[in-house]
Amino acid sequence: ARLAVLASGRGSNLQAILDAIAAGTLDARVVGVFSDKPTAAALQKVPADRRWAASPRDYPDREAFDAALGDALAASGADWIVCAGYMRILGEALVRRFDGRMVNIHPSLLPLHRGLHTHARAIEAGDAQHGASVHFVIPELDAGAVLAQARVPVLPGDDAATLAARVLAREHPLLIASLRLLASGRVREAGGQLMLDGQCL
Ligand code: GRF
Repeated sequence: ARLAVLASGRGSNLQAILDAIAAGTLDARVVGVFSDKPTAAALQKVPADRRWAASPRDYPDREAFDAALGDALAASGADWIVCAGYMRILGEALVRRFDGRMVNIHPSLLPLHRGLHTHARAIEAGDAQHGASVHFVIPELDAGAVLAQARVPVLPGDDAATLAARVLAREHPLLIASLRLLASGRVREAGGQLMLDGQCL
């Protein structure tokens, strides 16, 4: 499977994908890394000819930026678009352009804690458990069908950083397992419903 990865920062999830491909545990290729931050460390993890980055401030509005990003994604020939540490909201036109082929890893047990600062919010809420979710991307933020989740305990004395580290360690195997499922071709998302081998889950 050809993967396009969207990242805005460090790219530890991208690194996990590259490591799994190198280890032969994920039958895929990263055809490009795409970022809204030209200085993102994630971009340095692939050769220059597989990088696309642009600053939103160089575009008149979100739609224009998303159109440029969408054109680059389409040109990459990616089968799947993987948002892994991508910190910009994807506009509706861009999401619809890749409907059913775009997934995101979000650091919470969706539908709990959509949006930002999820670890601090989980602690604040007194949650006993927290974790990460891989879900299909729809226009509504962090709201598409959930493909898989990983759970961790929230421990006494946790702060956002210790909890984030515990979650991040589980994100990587969760993302690889999810991408193996998608690369197998057995899982589809249609109209918000997950389908396995053509059957509604
Ligand atoms: C991760 O917690 C991911 O779930 C969230 O962004 C964080 C950074 O990811 N979307 P990465 O290290 O850049 O892959």
